[in-house]
Formats: sequence, C-alpha cells, structure tokens
Amino acid sequence: MTTPLTARPAPVADWVDIKTLYDDPYPIYERLRREGGVHWVPSVNRYLITSYEAVIATEHDQETFSANETDSLQIRAMGHSMLRRDDPEHYRERRQWQSVFKPNAVKNVWTQTFHEKGREQLARLIDKGPGADLIWDFSAPFAAECLKSLLGLYNASAEDLQRWSQTLIDATGNYADDPDVWAAGKRSFDEVDVALDEMLEWHLHNRDHSLLSSLLSSPEEQMPIEKIRANIKMSIGGGLNEPRDALGVAAWAMLTHPDQRKAVERDPALWSTVFDETIRWIAPIGLYSRQTTKRTVLAGVELPAGARLGICILSANRDESIWDRADEFDIHREVKPHLAFSKGTHVCLGARAARAEVADVALPLLFGHLNGLSIDPDNAPAVGGWVFRGMLSLPATWHDVKPLDAGPVSVAVGGVTPSQTETEACPHVAIVGSGPAGCFTARELSRRLPGARIDLIDRLPVPYGLLRYGVAGDHQGTKAVARQFDRLFDSPNVRFVGNTTIGDQVAFEDLRAGYDAVVLASGVHADRALGIPGETLTGVWGAGGITRRLNGHPNETETPTLGRRVAIVGQGNVAIDVLRLLSVRSKDLEGSDIDEAVHGALTRDIDTLHIIGRSSAEKARFDPVMIRELGRFSGIRHCVHGVELDRVPEGKDARLDALRTLPGVAGVEVDGTVRMKVDWWFETVPEQIDGQAKVEGVALRHGGDVVSLEVDSVVTAIGFVPDPENAISRALAELPSASESGRIEAGLYLAGWLRRSARGTIPDQRTDARALAGVIGADIASGDIACTRQGLAPHVEATDIDGWRRIDQRERSDATPDRVRTKLCTFEALLSSARDTSIVIDRATDGAAGEGDSLGDLSVSILFGTESGNAELVAEELEQALEGRCTVDIADLGDIEPDDLAPERFYLIICSTYGDGDVPGGANAFYQALRERAPDLEGIRFASFGLGDSSYAKTYSRGSELLTEALTACGARRIGEYGRHDASGSLSASDVALDWAEGVLVLAASESSTPA
Ligand SMILES: Cc1cc2nc3c(=O)[nH]c(=O)nc-3n(C[C@H](O)[C@H](O)[C@H](O)COP(=O)(O)OP(=O)(O)OC[C@H]3O[C@@H](n4cnc5c(N)ncnc54)[C@H](O)[C@@H]3O)c2cc1C
Ligand code: HEM
Ligand SMILES: Cc1cc2nc3c(=O)[nH]c(=O)nc-3n(C[C@H](O)[C@H](O)[C@H](O)COP(=O)(O)O)c2cc1C
Repeated sequence: MTTPLTARPAPVADWVDIKTLYDDPYPIYERLRREGGVHWVPSVNRYLITSYEAVIATEHDQETFSANETDSLQIRAMGHSMLRRDDPEHYRERRQWQSVFKPNAVKNVWTQTFHEKGREQLARLIDKGPGADLIWDFSAPFAAECLKSLLGLYNASAEDLQRWSQTLIDATGNYADDPDVWAAGKRSFDEVDVALDEMLEWHLHNRDHSLLSSLLSSPEEQMPIEKIRANIKMSIGGGLNEPRDALGVAAWAMLTHPDQRKAVERDPALWSTVFDETIRWIAPIGLYSRQTTKRTVLAGVELPAGARLGICILSANRDESIWDRADEFDIHREVKPHLAFSKGTHVCLGARAARAEVADVALPLLFGHLNGLSIDPDNAPAVGGWVFRGMLSLPATWHDVKPLDAGPVSVAVGGVTPSQTETEACPHVAIVGSGPAGCFTARELSRRLPGARIDLIDRLPVPYGLLRYGVAGDHQGTKAVARQFDRLFDSPNVRFVGNTTIGDQVAFEDLRAGYDAVVLASGVHADRALGIPGETLTGVWGAGGITRRLNGHPNETETPTLGRRVAIVGQGNVAIDVLRLLSVRSKDLEGSDIDEAVHGALTRDIDTLHIIGRSSAEKARFDPVMIRELGRFSGIRHCVHGVELDRVPEGKDARLDALRTLPGVAGVEVDGTVRMKVDWWFETVPEQIDGQAKVEGVALRHGGDVVSLEVDSVVTAIGFVPDPENAISRALAELPSASESGRIEAGLYLAGWLRRSARGTIPDQRTDARALAGVIGADIASGDIACTRQGLAPHVEATDIDGWRRIDQRERSDATPDRVRTKLCTFEALLSSARDTSIVIDRATDGAAGEGDSLGDLSVSILFGTESGNAELVAEELEQALEGRCTVDIADLGDIEPDDLAPERFYLIICSTYGDGDVPGGANAFYQALRERAPDLEGIRFASFGLGDSSYAKTYSRGSELLTEALTACGARRIGEYGRHDASGSLSASDVALDWAEGVLVLAASESSTPA
C-alpha cells in the first residue's frame, strides 16, 4: 500500500473509558466514526478502528494487518490457535477444521442434532416455568450442548463447557492483568487438556461426525497435539458464547418489536433474516485485535509498524454511511453485508452451524411453543459488553405451552414457507407491467398462493418490458429468462392482458376496485436529463430511446443521426451497452435479434466514441464482465483518461483489471486495422453542450481543466426517471409512499424499477419479488386483504398470451440466417400477428422446457469448484432437482481434467471465489491445467454460476470469472445468463442457482434440439 502525502497522525480519543464502553458503546462509537474512524485510545492502549470502510480494509489485507499479535493475551490464555496466525500457517490449520462445518454437514447431520438438543433444553425451560431466564436457562445450555456434539467432547458437561468458555474468554480480555482471572483461565486450560486427551483416545476407536473424529481421520498429516489443544480451546471460547448471545439478543429483539415478531410468526422463513439483523445490530464479537506489520495509512491516518488495533465490529455494523437508521433493529431493511462473522482470512468457520442453531432451530422452538412469550414485567433484562456483547439476563413469562410432542414446529430453512391460510387463499391479483418485476412477482405469488388468479396487464401487445425492449439484442443469454416467463402462462390461473394501458383503457380506480390486490410494476422509462446548457440542441439523444430503437420498440420509429463523433455521458451498464452496440459491426451481431438496417444506419459514420463519467475508474458503475467483453472486438483502439492504471497492482481491483484488457490500453495490441477510437474519461463532468442549432461539441471539467471535445452528437445514459404523463405516476403522487418492502397499504404494492427508482438488474427483480410475495401472503393470512373480488374482464382490444405466442412464432420464422428473430416493429404489425389465427403455435419452439418438464436428450454434468463446501451443496441440490428431467451427473473440479470434458454433454459450472479473487483450492489444478496446457475445448458448451460475496467489492465472484475466461480461451463456449450468488445477501445459493439453471438449461436444450 502506498502512503499518501496527506496522511495525518492518529487523533487521540482520551475521553473514552472502558466502563462506558461496556455499558453502552454506541454513542462513543458514533463520535469516533464521525471523527474519521481511526483513533489512538489511551484507556484501551490500542488504536480503535470504527468505520465500516476502515474495518473492511483491515480484513482484506492480512499482509499489513496481521492476526499474529505479539504478546497476545489470547495466545497466553488459549495457546496459539489459527485465529492468531496468518496464511499460509493459518490456512493449514483451518483446512483441518473445515469439513465438520461444511454446509452439507450442517444440513445433513447437525441440524437434526441441534433439534434434539433444542427440544431437551426447551423441556427443561418449561419445567422451570414462567420467570425463568431465557439466557441462562435456555440459550447457554443449548449452545453448550450443540458445541459438545460438534466438537465430540462428550466427557464434558454443559456446565463445564460454559465455565471453560467464560473463563478462557475472560482471560483473553484480561487487559487489567487480574491474577484471579489468569488463575481461573489456567484451571480451565488444564481441565480442557485432560478432557481432550481422554476423548481423543475414545475417538480413535469410535469414529463419528464430530470434529475430534474428523481430525483423527484426516487424509492429511495429523495436526500436532499442541495445535489441536489451542484450536479446541479457541473453538470452545468462540463456539458457545456467540450463538448464545445471538440467540439471546434475537429473542429480546422479537419481544420488544411486536410488529416484526408478528411478521416472522406469519412467515417463518424470516427467522434467518432475524438472525442476520440481530448480529448486525449487536455483533456478538464486538472487537478483535490485529497488528500492523509495517507503517501504513488507514482511512487517511498514519499507523506505525507494530501498532495494536482493536477492530470494532460493534461499531462498523452500525455505520450510518452503510445503513439508514443503523441503530434500529429492522428486519425489513435493505440487506447489506454485515461484518459480525468477519470477512477475509478469518471469516467465521462456524457461521452455518450458528445460523442452524439459532435461526433454524432455537428461535422457532421458543416462539412456536411458548404461547404469549414476553419479558417478565417484574424483572428487567440487561445487556452489556463491548469486546463481546450480549444479554446478561432475559427473564421471561408465557401463558401456556404448545406440547413438545405435538409434531414438528415449523422450521425455517430459508425457502418460502407459506402458511395454511395463504395456500388456501384465492385472491384476484392485478400486476400492472409484465416486465421482469411483474413476471417474477406473478411467479412467486403463484408458488406461494396456488389458488390466486393473477392478471399481468401491459400497455404493449407483448409482454416482458425491458427484457424485450431494453436488454441488448446481442445478449440473448440474458433474454433467455423470457423462456421461464413463458411457462408462467401455462397455468390457467395466470393471464396476460396486453394492449391495455392503465389510465386509458382501464382507470386506476377501477383497477383497485376490481382486484383484491394490485401490484404496480410499470417501470421507469424517461431518460434522466443532464441539466446543463445546450441539452435541448438537435443531436442530444437519450440512451433509452436508442436502445428501444435497436430493440424494435413500436413507439420508436425514428433512427437518430449520430454523425462521426459521439459522446456518451454515463458509465453504467446501459452506457456500456450503448458503447458496444455503436462500436461493433454487423458481423459481430450474429445470433442477435438486432435489425441490421437500423444498426447500419445508426453506426454507419461513427469513427470516434467518448464515454464520460464523473466517478473514478475504481468506483464506476459498470460490471467488469461488460468491459472484458469489449476487448473481444477487432479494429477498436481504446484510450483511458483520468486513471493511472499503474498505481494499483493487477489483481487488486476488478474494474481496473478489466480496463487493462482493452486493446490499446496497457500494451494490449489492437486486432486488425483501427477503424474506431474509444476514449474513456473518468472523474470528468460535462458542463455544457456547444453548438448553434445542433450539437458541435461538449465542454468537460476534467482534473481541474476544461477539455473541449468536438462531437456531432451526445447520448445521455445517466439513468431513468418516471414519465410524468403515465397514469401510474399521477396516481402515486396522490398516495402515501411505500414502505421499504414495497407496501403502500394492504392490497396495494410497488415492485421493480418503479419501486427502486430505476435501480437493479433482472436478478434483483427476482430477489425483490420473493420478499414482496411474502408481504402480500402475510397481508392475506392476517385478513388485511379479503379475497372477495372477481377481477376485470379484458377489454375488446386486449391481446392475450396466445397473441404473444403467435408474434413470437412469426418473428422466429421470419429470422434471417444470422439472426434469431426479426422483430415486428409497429403496433399494426404486432396486433395483426397477435390476431392472426392462421399462425399455428408450435409449442416445441417456445422454449423446449421449463420447470419440471423433460429436457429431452440433454446430458448435463454439474461441475463444482469449492473451498468450504457451498458450491458442492448447490451442485447436489441442482442434481436432485434435475433428476428425471435429463441425464445428470456431478463431479468435483478437483477430480477431473479438462480433457475429460465431452462435447455431447452440457456443463453447469458452479464455482466460488477465495483468497484475493482466486479460484477456490478445489478448482485450482483444473484451472492451472487450462492455463498451462491450453487444451482444445472447441465444441464444449457450458454455463457459469459464481458464488461470491459482494463485500469483496474488488474481487466479487472473480474466481468463477477466471475459470470461465480460461475455458473460453481454450475454445469452450459459454451460453446463457451468468449466474451469481452473493453470500452477503439474503437468498439461499441453491434457490438462486435453481432459477439460473432453469434459464440456461432451457436454452441449452433448445440449441441441442435445433438441427445444425
Ligand atoms: C437499456 C437497458 C438495458 C438493460 N440491460 C440489462 C441486462 O443486460 N441485464 C440485467 O440484468 N438488467 C438489465 N437492465 C435492467 C432491467 O431491464 C431492469 O432491472 C428490469 O427490466 C426492471 O423491471 P420492471 O419490471 O420493473 O420494469 P420494465 O421492464 O420496464 O417493465 C415495466 C412494464 O410496465 C409496462 N407499463 C408501463 N406503464 C404502464 C401502464 N400505465 N399500463 C400498463 N402497463 C404499463 C411497460 O410497457 C413495461 O412492459 C437493462 C435496462 C435498460 C434500460
Ligand atoms: C453467531 C455466532 C458466531 C459469531 C457472531 C462468530 C463470529 C466470529 C468472528 C467475528 C470470527 C473472526 C474473529 C477474528 O478474526 O479474530 C470468528 C472466527 C471463528 N469462528 Fe465464529 N462466530 C460464531 C459462531 C461460531 C461457532 C458456533 C463456531 C464453532 C463451533 C465458530 C468457530 C469459529 C472458528 C473456528 C473461527 C476461526 C476461523 C479462522 O481463524 O480461520 N464460530 N467467528
Ligand atoms: C477467506 C475467504 C476469502 C474470500 N474471498 C472472496 C473474494 O475475493 N471474492 C468473493 O466474491 N468472495 C470471496 N469469498 C466468499 C466466498 O466465495 C463465498 O463465501 C462462497 O459462498 C464460498 O463458497 P465455497 O464454500 O463453495 O467455497 C471469500 C471467502 C473466504 C472465507
């Protein structure tokens, strides 16, 4: 890390005292963050790191911020465990611990064990009766019993484990050097060693699923006993108090937030959200230590070599620059990556197990069986701590008990868990807008409320909104999502009502009166204005209009004249789409549905493109995959301004890495004769568009200078705003604003771009739709929506789904040899095909297959590359879901060679990211073989799904991208949407992967069934 000249010495926070930190650290942390987030704090004898950004920076750079602290109290208290080591030593130890905590083991082995332990402890709590303490009479013994099973320390009692855990942790935090604390810690240290020796001997002859057994069965060389001892003590310290505290605080939060408790009782799938919001709100590990290995600068503050740091997770998790109302507990808030499990090298190994203990088992048990559970009015609860924080006591009462043997409690496992009332409900629902948000919402609602009648109403004669009229025509893989949507209408309960504008054919008030629930998903389509002089000159165009024209939208009939030199303002994905579509040649668009004549007329004269953005290259809003795609096209020379690519080493920033791949940049040769020049302007603001009657130039502010570019046209791509003429915009102006979940009132909801102000991708619409379906389901279950209305009959001019199928059929059969379809581009043509009953709908071409249908002769191999097992779990669940629909097998990338790939199979590649944006250990040999041997993979087809964590902003999902790039470099062809799962989001990886696989498999099956 280079040291900027502006680094300042650490401010001294001599006003901080430990007693206040223990009682209520939040006001102190708020001030420390406000003052920059890095301070020297004399009372703690450490630098405290309190802002989210600074904490993240330490977590992702173990070379500078070492866990191996000199004179560490933790090492003295417990021995030298993996938690106080850096890689590679750390990783060798962590690997031996890993298998027991893998997602598969948690799902298939431990969740059942936790259930048994939970029921035992709940029975004891019930015996104790109202007035018992939820912490000491339930959470603590429950967490201890779970830990005992995980570790295999069967000769210890729950009380032993609690005592050991507490005293070892007290010794770790013994900054006051209290001899009694050391003595108690030492007693536990010795007791653990005795118990451990006895149990290791036992496990030699009695193997089971526990950690101790797995250590003895490890294929690797056995860990030395001193290391086992230290790591077991660390796991006793960390594996008990944290789940206890997470459970205690979650129970307290539920008891003090009745509305949220009601929402969770209606929808048990929300227990997982409760768990995450709890540990965001009050992180059980509030602070851990790191030490600098060299002089460095953090958040502008200079730190000397050897500086001891306290990484304040309690504080970072309440950083107001990340979360609105960060101090409030709110399960409905937007999901952002919290740091309670840490990130990077030492990210908690027990996170899955802790989630299963708390969210899948203990909370549903407590709240499902103790009717009327509430805080004991005679005994106030107490919370405390700053290094570790949790409930000190939580005395509770209840009215009566649902017997424990009365069948299983509804347990949340992350998926949709509709209540009985919901599954029986038959509401009539209107969804205005059949774009991705409308379609996903319809799909989720019909899964959740199988009796619901759903009308998807759209002003256009055809469905799918921006999927058809925004997403670029050369990204057919993304457009393949339409095949999933097509299947929606196979259900007799879901209707498409096209050619119907709310505000024209149907009044908003009639719509509300006609349906039990109305979801407004009508999108946001007007180009945002730049707000600078010259904007109304001829030659200024919006990206929305251009992309609609290229997509054959019936409202866009004019092809803009762009001239020779074009400035595109904006650097988001839409701007990059425009850049690509304006710079490629017709032959690059083979396999697309872009009209050759329109594309030719639009691009004929262009030889120079400028792409201008106000952000730095590191913060630009484009997806790096989009930039790397640009590198594939020949004859284009790129040049970057406002970014020094040499400043940041390769591999540290995915956006800069992507820019380095562009021909003309960083020494990359341009393929063929240069026919077009693309200039990238970062940190640059357009100030004025120059010209008399039409555009002649644009003035930019760039690094303190004014740069004047001569251009013939300007394309604005800086986002979208609602169209004030749309009746939906007018209706919304009269209504209260929607809650975070999209609910305006019971029976009226917002979805998609209309709800999120034109932000979010198609996968985001899927995520939001699930949550919204939950909210609507809850309103029905609670009786806030009565299911009494009958819906509206379509008006005479309306089109239906068969109309769309005819249009689809005609467009495909009219396709020229190098296009997948020729779009009908006028209302007349669309409507006449929709009504042309002579067009026979060929169901075989409308998407080969969908959920549950056969995938024909397709042979699928699921290959996973994993480090800690998530990708394997996803692969197994995909395999299960596909059984019976096609021949399917599964393999670990670690067990195969590139030469094993066969052209007659289709490969689903599920791969995570590790280290600093690397492929995971399990896939490394395969990846290296691709890179070093470059085998010929011509004819191999695959689709990619990356597992990652978006809080690794610079390397998000990069491992799977590296693997994908290596495969394509060897000639294999990727098809379909690039799937991604973000571990810091709220969705289960398997759910996201199942949706993704549905789309890509349908595409693969239709390719396979199309004669070559
Ligand atoms: C140019 C462009 C390219 C994009 N490319 C990608 C991409 O490659 N990948 C990706 O993931 N995301 C992409 N996106 C984003 C993606 O399109 C959006 O996330 C998504 O379409 C939002 O869905 P929606 O249903 O909210 O809105 P829309 O897709 O806009 O759907 C709204 C629907 O409502 C209808 N409607 C509007 N008003 C009325 C009314 N009064 N009565 C009846 N019907 C009405 C419209 O006709 C439309 O069909 C792109 C966006 C744009 C603009
Ligand atoms: C809600 C509950 C839990 C929370 C909030 C939590 C939090 C954390 C945090 C913050 C770290 C990193 C600490 C550091 O870097 O200094 C960590 C590491 C670790 N945790 Fe957890 N933890 C929880 C439950 C568990 C459980 C149940 C186990 C095992 C039984 C466990 C085992 C571990 C291990 C082994 C590490 C060390 C990983 C490494 O160094 O590579 N944790 N945990
Ligand atoms: C030490 C470590 C480093 C990680 N590095 C990255 C990263 O650079 N980029 C990313 O997107 N995700 C990163 N992740 C997140 C993982 O990719 C994510 O948790 C994934 O679900 C793990 O899948 P697996 O268990 O199959 O390996 C990292 C996780 C860990 C534990």
